[in-house]
This record gives sequence, structure tokens and C-alpha cells, in this order.
Amino acid sequence: MVQPQASSFNAISPTALMVAYTRQFTDIPYSKELAQLVNAESFIEKLQQQKLTQPSEVSVLVEARYKAINKVISQQLQFQATQIIELASGLLPRGMVMSQNKNITFVESDLPEMIRQKQQLVKQLIEKRQNLYFAAIDATSQPSQLPLKVNYLHKNKPVVILCEGLLTYLTLAEKQMVFANVREILQVYGGVWITPDLTTFDGLNQLRQISPGLQRLNQTASNVSGRAINNYHFENIDHVKQFAYEQGFDIQEYTMLEVINQITCLKPLGIEPEVVKSMLAIGSTFVLTVR
Ligand SMILES: C[S@@+](CC[C@H](N)C(=O)[O-])C[C@H]1O[C@@H](n2cnc3c(N)ncnc32)[C@H](O)[C@@H]1O
Repeated sequence: MVQPQASSFNAISPTALMVAYTRQFTDIPYSKELAQLVNAESFIEKLQQQKLTQPSEVSVLVEARYKAINKVISQQLQFQATQIIELASGLLPRGMVMSQNKNITFVESDLPEMIRQKQQLVKQLIEKRQNLYFAAIDATSQPSQLPLKVNYLHKNKPVVILCEGLLTYLTLAEKQMVFANVREILQVYGGVWITPDLTTFDGLNQLRQISPGLQRLNQTASNVSGRAINNYHFENIDHVKQFAYEQGFDIQEYTMLEVINQITCLKPLGIEPEVVKSMLAIGSTFVLTVR
């Protein structure tokens, strides 16, 4: 199989700063600290000088997906799924937050350069934790780089795989490689894959009608990453389900409206509650299990 060049994925990494910038308007722990440490503000100012802006409503999507994933994780914890592997962690604070619970083993991962930087940042914010790991993983790589044989994961315990804001940057062929790698690891450990990343053209078109700002959704991210992400979506939810089925997964869909009461970025950004409601009605979190 032809491997995509690593450098083409490295171009996606700066988008982590864009997301970190949007997250600082929320109450998500460590978001402000991380945004400050990487100087996300100056990154955004440089983009603005090139006439590249991102709509403020993106914060709603970013806050909702973080909290919607957490909601599903908390359900999984009841089933003793305490080993969590996050793909494309970028500047997400979830590893720092969840590893406060000593019963959870949390593995943050991303491309080598990004995860090295993340580990340094985490070091500046918290004491070293025995249950928080950092792994360089290209999620598309074949053979898989996911932790299949590592001594820090128990073979007889299920894993929870997470990714948010990764698959949207990948072509269908690249998404297929990630699906294959996740299927392989779930076949070894058991468990689930939680992601909101299975975005559709239908959903995107609906989002773009909600507010003038959202018509520009993805433009800056496409420019920064050099990836034509507007072309990478699934057609509609049936396409998502068919794709997941063909890759060997059962899939369940949860509406983002479930976390509407937890959205905190409205006030600082002056976003109308009705806009938030319309946006969350379109968003979903997916839980995939191997068939
Ligand atoms: C939009 S950012 C999202 C970061 C983080 N998940 C968040 O929500 O803040 C995309 C992330 O995907 C990572 N990435 C890109 N290609 C990847 C690949 N092939 N494997 C793993 N991570 C990748 C980038 O380094 C970057 O951190």
C-alpha cells in the first residue's frame, strides 16, 4: 500500500493551535494555560494578517465535542474501561485532567514532533504522573503504530480509543487506514472508539446556513493544513454508517444536544443561545465497536 508522506500530515499540526485558541473561551481545565504557553493568540493574529480568520462559533463545536466525548467516556468507565488511548491529542488537556484519577491509564499520542512538544507543555503544568503516557503515533500508519504490545496496557482490560479533529483532515482512503488500525487494536483489547469526526456534507451545509460566520467554516483550516478538507466529508449519515460497517464496525450515534447545558463559551464570545442549539442539533458523537 502507498504510504502518505509523513510531511503531509505534519502540515496539519499547526491547526492544533487554532483549536487551542478556540478552547480558551471555555471552562475546559488547562485550556487557557495551554493557549498561553503556545502563544496561540499570536498565531491567530498572524493568520488574520493574511486575511485568514475562523468564525467564533467554532468554539461551540470544539467545546461541545470535548464534553460530548467525556460524557460517553464516563459511561464506559462504569464498564471498567480504564485504559484510554487518545489519537491526535494536539493541545487537548484531557490527558492531564483524566489522569488525576489513578485508576485510569491515559495515553496521549500524536505525530512525533507534536507529541514531543505536548509532553514538554504538560511537564510545565503538572507533576509527573505514573499513569500518563505519551506516544508518537501516526494514526494512518501501516503497519499500525498503535500500542499493541506495550507493558503499560493490560491485555485483559478493554481500551477506549478517542479522536477529535483528526479524521476531518484525512481523505477517505486515509480514514480507512485509521479505521483498520483501530479495528486491529480493539480486536486485541476489546473496547470502543469514540469520535465526533465522521462529518458529512449534509451536516456542513446545514451548519453553514446557521450564521454568516459559519459560511467560512473550514476555509482557514484548509489553508493552514494545505488539505482540501471541504472535499473529505462523508455524503450523509447513511454513508457514514455504510463506511463503518464495511470497515467492520457497529456504530451508535449520540446527539451533541446532550451537552447543551455545559456550553460556556457563549457569553465571552457573544453567541446567541439559539445559534448554539441549532449547531448542536447537527453535531453527533459516534461510538464504534468491532462487529
Ligand atoms: C485540528 S488538530 C486537533 C488536535 C486535538 N485533537 C484537539 O482537538 O485540539 C489536528 C491534530 O491531528 C494531528 N495529526 C495530523 N495527522 C495525523 C496523523 N496521521 N496521525 C496522528 N495525528 C495526526 C496533528 O498533529 C494535530 O495535532
